[in-house]
Amino acid sequence: MKKKIQNETRLHRLKSRLIPEEESSRRLRLILLFTLLSVLISLALFYQENTYPVDDVALREVVKEDIPARIDFQWVDHDQMQAKIRERLDNAPKVYLLDDNIGDSEKKRLIADIAKVKKVLTSGAGAEEKEQAVKEIWGKESPDLLSRMTADQLNTLSLIFLNVLDAIYQKGIINDRFFLESPTIPVEIRRKNDNLLVEKDSLIFRNQAEEYLHSVIRRYLEGERMYADFTFYVLKNYLRENVYFSEELTVRRAESIRLDYVPETVTIRKGEIIAQKGEIVDETIAGKIEKMKEKLNNVLSLRLTGFLMTLLFLMGAVFLLLRQEGYWVNIQKVFFWSVIHFFFIAAFTGFYLFSGLSLYAFPFLAFIIMAYFLIDLKAALLSLAFWTLLLSAFVPDFRFGALWFLSSLIFLAEPGRFRLRIPTLSTLLKYLVVIMTSLFFIELSTAHSGREALAGLIWVPVYVLLSFAGGYLFVYLFERAHNITTEVSLNSLQDWENPLLRQLMSVAPGTYRHSLIVSELAGEAAKAIGGDVLLAQVGGLYHDIGKVKRPDYFIENQMYGPNRHDSLLPLMSVRILKNHVDEGALMARKHGLGRRLMAIIREHHGTSLIKYFYLKNLKDDKHKNIEEKYFRYDGPKPSTRESAIIFLADKVEAVTRLLFNSPFHHVQERISRIFEDALFDKQLEDCDLTLRDVNTVKEAFVEYFRGSRHKRIEYPKETGGKE
Ligand SMILES: [Fe+2]
Ligand SMILES: [Fe+2]
Repeated sequence: MKKKIQNETRLHRLKSRLIPEEESSRRLRLILLFTLLSVLISLALFYQENTYPVDDVALREVVKEDIPARIDFQWVDHDQMQAKIRERLDNAPKVYLLDDNIGDSEKKRLIADIAKVKKVLTSGAGAEEKEQAVKEIWGKESPDLLSRMTADQLNTLSLIFLNVLDAIYQKGIINDRFFLESPTIPVEIRRKNDNLLVEKDSLIFRNQAEEYLHSVIRRYLEGERMYADFTFYVLKNYLRENVYFSEELTVRRAESIRLDYVPETVTIRKGEIIAQKGEIVDETIAGKIEKMKEKLNNVLSLRLTGFLMTLLFLMGAVFLLLRQEGYWVNIQKVFFWSVIHFFFIAAFTGFYLFSGLSLYAFPFLAFIIMAYFLIDLKAALLSLAFWTLLLSAFVPDFRFGALWFLSSLIFLAEPGRFRLRIPTLSTLLKYLVVIMTSLFFIELSTAHSGREALAGLIWVPVYVLLSFAGGYLFVYLFERAHNITTEVSLNSLQDWENPLLRQLMSVAPGTYRHSLIVSELAGEAAKAIGGDVLLAQVGGLYHDIGKVKRPDYFIENQMYGPNRHDSLLPLMSVRILKNHVDEGALMARKHGLGRRLMAIIREHHGTSLIKYFYLKNLKDDKHKNIEEKYFRYDGPKPSTRESAIIFLADKVEAVTRLLFNSPFHHVQERISRIFEDALFDKQLEDCDLTLRDVNTVKEAFVEYFRGSRHKRIEYPKETGGKE
């Protein structure tokens, strides 16, 4: 019993070494760290990509390189705009007002004076006295008519007076200085009452007003010399300027010009050269660059937000997908994905910012190779989608993305050829030819000539070589560091030259032959249910590797001599048998077989009962009360489909080996019973094999034996012990 307890402690230690609990939370923290770091790097890269080194342009300096517009932007030349406004203001008219009130008040004065004169004329005063009174009102240089003028005549004339004055004031009288001051400056004359424009040419200058008065009177009083003279004599007293400069309106007019000016905005398109190499930076260039920077800054925050959100959504989708299969089982996958993703971001950043090489040389495929070998096909496809989406934010040229996408997809579509640690030269060459051809067509779709398209292909061999070398090197280093089994290492494990296999072959040849058949059976079954064929095959080969420690205790190796178990208590025998599982797991760890193989080794018997010794023990009266559970393997039960297949194949091989000469239907019946027992004993409840899968596996086994009955290997007669 003591030994049993020791055994259990040892197993517990082993288990905790295989899946240490704190390791999971450590992984989780690392995942978060990698995620955070890669988000930060992506953001920094995005920021770098969306800011431009155009700050160093100084006025009056020579432009060193052509400066293209990095973005569409609107631009207003403010200096030019100011000049245009100034020019318009210089040409702004002086506004003059024609005030009708002035004419009206002069007319009123005239009417009042006429009334006064009439009073004088109708008074009883003498002629001389009358003349004197009129001269006081209308001036001394009186015409002859004045002495004979009667009130009636004056009445008749007064109508003409008013008409003439009206005609003159309608035209407008302006100060002579107007002509001197503004011969070229544009003017605008408006009637104060109705704001209508007045013709500049029709204005009468003040010093020409009397002359004009003459001509108007002549028109009214043609041939009436005396009356005309008299009219002139009267009316020259009522000529006043009625057009004057309005400062207020002129200022208002200028203001409206300033306000009405619509600045001309020019749209500068992305890629348009703002400043040419060799040009001197003037205000216009500096202004444009300033404006462009302003626009870029505005756009940057918008883009950063968009980019960050895209990143979050992408990450969220990836993590959801990775979590789907079960959190703890796949925390390793998630962890590896995080690490590879981080490497990818870091490598791309370094390459993009510092290498100065064409993006064609960036070994994108290396990371897909890593994701495929270190995780699985799903992860590789996910990475491919994730990264090409992510990079499309930095690399607008679709040719790079196309190369990355195609090379990865072709690699993943035919991974069979690339499963060996070092792919053969012909595989590489064929791959190269396919990639080059596809890239040639991609180049052709953007090139200006066939020669240009060919020039792009120079990089392809560099890309392929860098990718393969980098990818495979990293896969190798990861395997060493993390004790995981990848497709690549599974292949090398299948090699007959592998020292572990050679040891099994020489120390336990029976077990070796058993393992070969289990391997074939498992491979067939995995193929039938779409499982991992390679893993099942290699798992079959190595599942009993722990038997090299004490090979003689296992029936398949007992060619000669007595049965070792004859002298042992059944419980002791069981302990030795069970021990090959733990030994196998330890060896797997020591030789770096990886977790998937280790799981298969640990689970290949599940918690099944070692019936032979259990029944033998029941016959022993002294010990027959020992509970059944001590005759069971320690488990765990198969947790994957491949483990379950090997669990079944192992039992099937052990039983059918004894039925070599029996009719085939006996073999079929035994196989069916093994499956029924396994299901009844609930050994398959921890793996995700469906009942349909279980049936398919059974069919595959039956077919295997039907086909290979004639080449079966002969075993010695069973004398005790299982397998
Ligand atoms: Fe075994
Ligand atoms: Fe076995």
